Amino acid sequence: MIGIDIPKILELAPSPAYVVDLGRLRHNLAILDQVQQRSGAKILMALKAFSMWSVFPIIRETLQGVCASSPWEARLGYEEFGGEVHSFAAAFKEEDVRELLTTSNHLVFNSFHQLERFRPLWEQSGVSIGLRVNPEHSEGHTPIYDPCAPKSRLGIPRREFEDKSLAGVEGLHFHTLCEQLFEPLERTAKAFEDKFGPFLAQMKWLNLGGGHHITREGYDIDALVELVRYFREKYGVEVYLEPGEAIAIGTGILVSEVLDVVHNEMDIAILDVSATCHMPDCLEMPYRPGITNGFDPGERSHTYRLGGPSCLAGDVIGDWSFDRPLQPGDRLAFEDMAHYTMVKTTTFNGIQHPAICTYDPDTGELRVVRKFGYGDFKSRLS
Ligand SMILES: Cc1ncc(COP(=O)(O)O)c(C=O)c1O
Repeated sequence: MIGIDIPKILELAPSPAYVVDLGRLRHNLAILDQVQQRSGAKILMALKAFSMWSVFPIIRETLQGVCASSPWEARLGYEEFGGEVHSFAAAFKEEDVRELLTTSNHLVFNSFHQLERFRPLWEQSGVSIGLRVNPEHSEGHTPIYDPCAPKSRLGIPRREFEDKSLAGVEGLHFHTLCEQLFEPLERTAKAFEDKFGPFLAQMKWLNLGGGHHITREGYDIDALVELVRYFREKYGVEVYLEPGEAIAIGTGILVSEVLDVVHNEMDIAILDVSATCHMPDCLEMPYRPGITNGFDPGERSHTYRLGGPSCLAGDVIGDWSFDRPLQPGDRLAFEDMAHYTMVKTTTFNGIQHPAICTYDPDTGELRVVRKFGYGDFKSRLS
C-alpha cells in the first residue's frame, strides 16, 4: 500500500487490529483542503464510512463537519467532531427528529410526508431543512449500491414535486454515487439540474452527497472545482460534499495472524480475522481486498484459501498465493481496511474484536487506542 510502512506496523501492532496511518490520513486531508480552498465547497465526513473518533481532531482541522445517518451518529459528530452536523435517513421517528433537532445544523427529509408531519417540530427550530431528491440517473453497476435503481426508496423523484409546498425548505440533497471518479458526478449533476434546477433559485444550499473518490489517484480535481463553482455562482447556493471513503481510502490496514493451516483439496489458512465479522463488504459488496505480498492464486508457489475462525462456511476472504508457505503465527496485512470496516463489525461467535490503533510515520509510534474485551461482547447482549 502506497506510503505505509507495513513491515513496521506488522511488527508493532497487536493482532487482530485495525491500524490507521496518520501520514496517509493527513495526505488525504491535504487534497480535500485544496478542493475546499479552490472551489468554496464545504466538505463533510460521512460517519457511516469512518467513525474512528480518536482521530476526529486531526480531520476537524480541515473538514467542516459530518454527515450522520441516525441520532447516534449525529450525537457522535456533535460531541466529538464539532462543526456542522447534517443528518439524513430514509425515514425518522418523531423521537429521532426531536433529538436530531438538538444535535444537527441541517436535517434532510426523504419524503414530503415526513417534511409536513414534522413541520411543527422543525419550523421554529433554527435547523436548516432540506429534501433528498432522486435524479433517476444511474451510474452504479451494483444495484444494492445504486440509489437510482428502479423502485428505489432513496430520494424524492421529480414528479412528486408537483403541487407541493417548499415553504421552509432551504436545501436539496442528492446522493447517487459509489467509489466514483469525476465523470459520473458530472453526468449526474446534469441530470439533477435538468430536473430540479428550477427549484435551486429558492434554495440556500445544495448537497452533492458522497461516493466521490476525490483522494484516489486520477480524480479530476480541476473539473470538480469547476462544477462546484458553477452551482455556487449560477444559483447562489452553498455547495456541500459529504464523502466518507475519500477521507479514509489508503489509510488503514487490518493486521491478522495465521492460526492454523488445514488441507481439503487445497491449503486453507485459518486467520484470527473474519470476513463476516471484520470486513463484511468482502461478502456483501462483494470485493477482494489487497494483501501485502499476497498475489492472485497460482502467481506464486504457495496458494491458500484464507478464512476466518467462525462457524460460517462462507467465512472465506478469498484465495491468494505467496512466495513462502504460511505457518501459524505469520502475520498478514489486509489493505485499505479503514473505511466501512470498523463501523460494520460484529462479535458474531464471540470472536475477538480487532484493536483500533494509529501509526504515526513521523514519530514511528504505534498507539493502541482501544482494545476490546469480553465486557464489550457481553454489554451488547442481555
Ligand atoms: C447519504 C450519503 N451520504 C454520503 C455517503 C458516503 O459515501 P462514500 O463513503 O461512498 O463517499 C453515503 C454512503 O452510502 C450516503 O448514503
